[in-house]
Amino acid sequence: MNKSELIKEYRKQFPLLDEELAYLDNAATTQKPSSVLDAVRRYYEKDNANPFRGVYDLSERATESYENARKKTAAFINAAAPEEIIFVRNASEALNLLAYSWCEDNLAEGDEVVVSVMEHHSDFLPWKYMAEKKGAKLVKFEPDENGTVTDAVLDSCLSEKTKIVALTQVSNVLGRVNDIKHIAEKVHLAGALISVDGAQSVPHMKVDVQDLDCDFLSFSGHKMFGPMGIGVLYGKMEHLEKMRPFMYGGEMIATVHWDRVTYAEVPHKFEAGTVNVGGAVGLAAAIDFINEVGWDIIETQEEILTARAMAGIKNIDKVRIIGSQNEADHKGIVTFCVEDVHPHDVADILGRAEVCVRAGHHCAQPLMDFLGVKSTCRASFAFYNTEEEVDRFLTELSKVRGLLGYGF
Ligand SMILES: Cc1ncc(COP(=O)(O)O)c(C=O)c1O
Repeated sequence: MNKSELIKEYRKQFPLLDEELAYLDNAATTQKPSSVLDAVRRYYEKDNANPFRGVYDLSERATESYENARKKTAAFINAAAPEEIIFVRNASEALNLLAYSWCEDNLAEGDEVVVSVMEHHSDFLPWKYMAEKKGAKLVKFEPDENGTVTDAVLDSCLSEKTKIVALTQVSNVLGRVNDIKHIAEKVHLAGALISVDGAQSVPHMKVDVQDLDCDFLSFSGHKMFGPMGIGVLYGKMEHLEKMRPFMYGGEMIATVHWDRVTYAEVPHKFEAGTVNVGGAVGLAAAIDFINEVGWDIIETQEEILTARAMAGIKNIDKVRIIGSQNEADHKGIVTFCVEDVHPHDVADILGRAEVCVRAGHHCAQPLMDFLGVKSTCRASFAFYNTEEEVDRFLTELSKVRGLLGYGF
């Protein structure tokens, strides 16, 4: 089978995808293949019990399912040890855990936290809150208009006061990939740590945390063919060991007495309460699925779709692509505006033709301010999308202004 035949076969494994629907909102969440749905179902049918708590066989199987998922996730991003993987609900929770826990003991008055203007609100608000709480300064760092982080700007933001830098690996609006390895080197030279938001990178490219040398990485299972409700905070063990718990309760302790408490080892210290085993099992199945398809097919197909969409949009009068005009700068994400038409109207018109795109500020209002727009539309691709879907999207997009009575 050649690549496009293989992709068609893989697409058949997604029960929700059919010929009618052009689902181009994959940056928001992806659809799920049968193997993921089956794995979750199998877990609940065969292995479900409260993990860690029981000594009976069923509970041990639940514990094993959960810990195997942790091992698989660690291998997927090449973490040095499974214990460096903390399971949370999603990237937002990972970033909140990190900001609350790390800043509490590592940030003081006069310190600086550097956050890029292109961060999703989930990678902006927790830092902003904690910086304000600790009397630290939130330093804004701006990419160029294409979303590129330049050394000059980075250098101007880093100082001996910088304690941590929060940066996305791929912008959920501009689709630009940041050179995290290079940036991490500079951040470390300045004596600070770097937290990477991998919500839009981990599903679309090989991410190797040891090669990048990032201190933390956050991502969501549901954006990479896994179920909703499971996400990951990766952290280097040397940092995690020193961090305090974020949530308190069952399973995160070693001993509890009225007057003295000791906490469990990492990662359990950060996973209070009954954990989401079904979600972790689903995430592990999603990782198996990605490994089976392979990065070559995923990345090549997403590049083809992105290039086709961008070339097509450039041919439609009065539709403007936001960010770089170069398709190589967009990792499966194309954001655009139609002159005179509100993005919600654009998405609504496309939606009526069963073409799903996102409209709004994409939880990145500081970036909207920086770009001088209020909101935009976004088409975002997964490898299961087809060129025919992109063409349908372009055909419907080309009708929007006419349908609303605007002449060209
Ligand atoms: C770059 C980025 N970071 C963080 C998030 C938050 O992810 P979640 O809603 O799964 O917590 C998103 C979601 O779209 C995102 O695109």
